[in-house]
Amino acid sequence: MPIEAAARDWWKSAVVYQIYPRSFRDSDGDGIGDLRGIAEKLDHLVELGVDIVWLCPVYASPQVDNGYDVSDYRAIAPAFGTMADFDDLARAMRARGLRLVMDLVFNHSSDQHDWFRSARASKDSPWRDYYIWRDQPNDWRAVFGGGAWTWNEPTGDWYFHIFAPEQPDLNWENPRLRAELWDIMRFWAEKGVAGFRLDVVSFFSKKPFDLPQAGGIFSFYANGPRIHDYLQEMRSEVLDPLGLMSVGEAPGVSAEDAPLYVDPARGELDMIFHFDHAGIDRTPEDFWKPAPWRLADLKEILGRWDTALAGRGWNSLYLGNHDLPRLLSRFGDTGEHRAAAAKLFATLLLTLRGTPYIYQGDEIGMVNAPFAAIEDTRDIVARNGWLTAQAEGRAEQDFLADHSLVGRDHARTPLQWDASPNGGFTAGEPWIAANPDFALTNVAAQRADPDSVFHYYRRMIALRKATPALVHGDYTPVDAGNADVFAYVRALDDRLVLVILNISRETIDIGDLGRDGTMLIGNYAGRGALRPYEARVLRMAEHIAEVASPACSINEVDPAYMGLDR
Ligand code: GLC
Repeated sequence: MPIEAAARDWWKSAVVYQIYPRSFRDSDGDGIGDLRGIAEKLDHLVELGVDIVWLCPVYASPQVDNGYDVSDYRAIAPAFGTMADFDDLARAMRARGLRLVMDLVFNHSSDQHDWFRSARASKDSPWRDYYIWRDQPNDWRAVFGGGAWTWNEPTGDWYFHIFAPEQPDLNWENPRLRAELWDIMRFWAEKGVAGFRLDVVSFFSKKPFDLPQAGGIFSFYANGPRIHDYLQEMRSEVLDPLGLMSVGEAPGVSAEDAPLYVDPARGELDMIFHFDHAGIDRTPEDFWKPAPWRLADLKEILGRWDTALAGRGWNSLYLGNHDLPRLLSRFGDTGEHRAAAAKLFATLLLTLRGTPYIYQGDEIGMVNAPFAAIEDTRDIVARNGWLTAQAEGRAEQDFLADHSLVGRDHARTPLQWDASPNGGFTAGEPWIAANPDFALTNVAAQRADPDSVFHYYRRMIALRKATPALVHGDYTPVDAGNADVFAYVRALDDRLVLVILNISRETIDIGDLGRDGTMLIGNYAGRGALRPYEARVLRMAEHIAEVASPACSINEVDPAYMGLDR
């Protein structure tokens, strides 16, 4: 790759860490995580070896959806701190070589934003056309339950919201609104942020309102007729002139349509987050209703996305985020094989082609929390879902059983720093209870244990960085039909890396697969048949056969290999 392109695409070889500020670290004892709390813990991220921090929304907000309802895009929510705290954090990150990516919630604002308060008060408001109004609602449904239209008494008409009524959709058709949004982006870019994660980017452009709602709710709202005009305008107005990275959250966008968003030739976004594997354990008609998942589907989805974007864009890779239950509870093991499974999924995330995004807490193998009663939940989706469930006559425990499979609260319990009360997250009363397993699973304990999940992540990140084939290499599945083993080769020029993952509780004989390779990293000592949740990454090349160590050392990156590949 020419040097210039490599510098421009710095985010391709980067590893991202996602912070949910409310639950990361509370510095002032009010029970809510904050910017100073993040600043206190930056060395954790440096030690892990990540390059970029994606910070979920910290803007002024009534917090109906934990900050995804913004009432002032240029201010910090008091619960998270002040603008001075933000500037201090940004400076501290720069000093450590960490780049900051902010979350932009531009599909909708809060109903408490000055624009909306004015717009709902009078049809003559200068901000009236920042939102979407109709005399009659249609039959479209909202993602958080109920209809997508809410009656507005003062003006005698209805406004549109894809999410909660407190999150009115912005009218992207209006060029004045778009100019305002570009200015907000410039405001944060001047503060030194390196890029943006764009919340539900695929929903910005709305389909004609006489269209009956059909199919899955995400695919229905995605890909409106003008979405690509808007993104091209954003690119030429802001992203390109300021050299910013962009990643769009793209529910409802298929692998087939993805290049329309991320093909560099089109000048839109750098990456999108697709939802195909996020929805793997959900029913197609209802994202909040669980369904069984199969490894075969996960392999197929990840492979399909690699193929779709090979040479036509760049993937973003994630297995967890603030909207999904913990990855180990979904895909792995929370019992006997918990640590092995956590390391296996670290290996998967960090050896596929694309930019990996690690969600806070996954680096220590956090799992779902118990949530024994509705009153312990905090998420608007859980609270709304319970209202619907009650209307359907469902019992609380029955509803909570679903919540343990799809609930967003699980990802939002406090990050477990140590074995002190509340896992060292806060000296006060946390806004959501800590997972009681913090006494065993926490950052302090794992830093002290060289064989921990944390140290495995650290080594795996280092290995990826030292191995261009793991960043840029082609992806080829091996034994694609195998129901338990996920194996693939990443190849760059004559460099071949083989990844073998046993996503099962069984011991599996894989014959000669990888036998001649150099072990680069693994989560068990020795070779032979694959043990439960065993992960192996091997260098497969004739010319380095002589440095192959007969038995791999646990969790170790082969030093001979690290030297050779530079
Ligand atoms: C995105 C966010 C989610 C939020 C929703 C509405 O999906 O990730 O947390 O609730 O958008 O803004």
